[in-house]
Amino acid sequence: MNTALGDIEIVSRLGADERTLAFDVLDGLTRPFKEIPPKHFYDTEGSRLFEQIMSLPEYYPTRTERAILEANAAALIEETHAAELVELGSGVPTKTLLLLDAMRDAETLDRYVPFDVSEVVLLESAKLLVERYPGIRVFGVVGDFERHLDALPEAEGPRVIVFLGGTIGNFLPGTRRRFLQSLAAELRPEDRILLGTDLVKDPAVLEAAYNDAAGVTAAFNRNILAVLNRELDADFDLDAFEHVAFYDREQEWIEMRLRAVRPMDVHVRKLGLDVHFANREELRTEISAKFTRERLEADLHAAGLVLDRFMTDEDELFALSLIGAAPTR
Ligand code: SAH
Ligand code: AVI
Repeated sequence: MNTALGDIEIVSRLGADERTLAFDVLDGLTRPFKEIPPKHFYDTEGSRLFEQIMSLPEYYPTRTERAILEANAAALIEETHAAELVELGSGVPTKTLLLLDAMRDAETLDRYVPFDVSEVVLLESAKLLVERYPGIRVFGVVGDFERHLDALPEAEGPRVIVFLGGTIGNFLPGTRRRFLQSLAAELRPEDRILLGTDLVKDPAVLEAAYNDAAGVTAAFNRNILAVLNRELDADFDLDAFEHVAFYDREQEWIEMRLRAVRPMDVHVRKLGLDVHFANREELRTEISAKFTRERLEADLHAAGLVLDRFMTDEDELFALSLIGAAPTR
């Protein structure tokens, strides 16, 4: 799909031939340890629930990353001369406004390129941005950043590729390195990556952030089953699954799961698939890896990237990193 609305152009790589949900569910629910990848959380309802998560008192990453951006946005734009901001997993780009404001103030702002699996959220935010920044061009990509980076438009000026929120932590370590390699392949010498990573910290703080008192994270987690019911004509009983989120101290990641409260059989009609859950059997829906500077630098080095600047808040809860291509590549 291509849509042109004034200064907005949207291309979609998630067309009718998009079989990833069906494949991921068939593959994930027939494994000895069941699993569904977290990108399937974000239908319209999942995106709305994630917006609520971002303002929960326990969920410190969003406000902390915003504070780091507030302190550094002007200097980052001065340093990178960015005319173009590409944002992977852009969602509702509220923190991004700090960077776009700094680009507008420095009179470099030309183009914003949001990239997300959620078309509804992408289109809404594109409309808001063309109103807020007269003259800006928005080129949105509806796609999967693990597979469709080739859909990014050719860069026309100094470009910063931002990937905020700690979303890189939702990849398993091997996939994370592969993803960073594919980003490195997109990077010209004048481009930079701005990456948000959640940091290793007191497990109690981490576990509270994924087990909020209001139950919004639990609803977000269960919503993945509603996606399967709607998209694949499955018959999951959402009330028969408990939200589980715990910090794995060895792996240094949060793991979210859904635990069956009784033995049950689920039918996924579009896949012709029957799935049995034993009592208390768990289905993994997300990992959210936490970083140290050393872990990040090792990943970057393996991908041919270098850390130019590492910015954190006072309490070292979260980090923003400015990253470039390694000179010897
Ligand atoms: N950047 C925002 C939103 C983070 S939530 C912030 O920092 O607050 C993660 C976002 O990534 C969601 O909008 C989700 O739709 C998107 N997303 C998750 N997996 C994706 C994938 N594989 N490809 C593209 N977008 C993805
Ligand atoms: C999008 N991503 C970085 C969030 C995280 O913290 O891993 C998703 C999330 N899952 C539960 N709460 C928030």
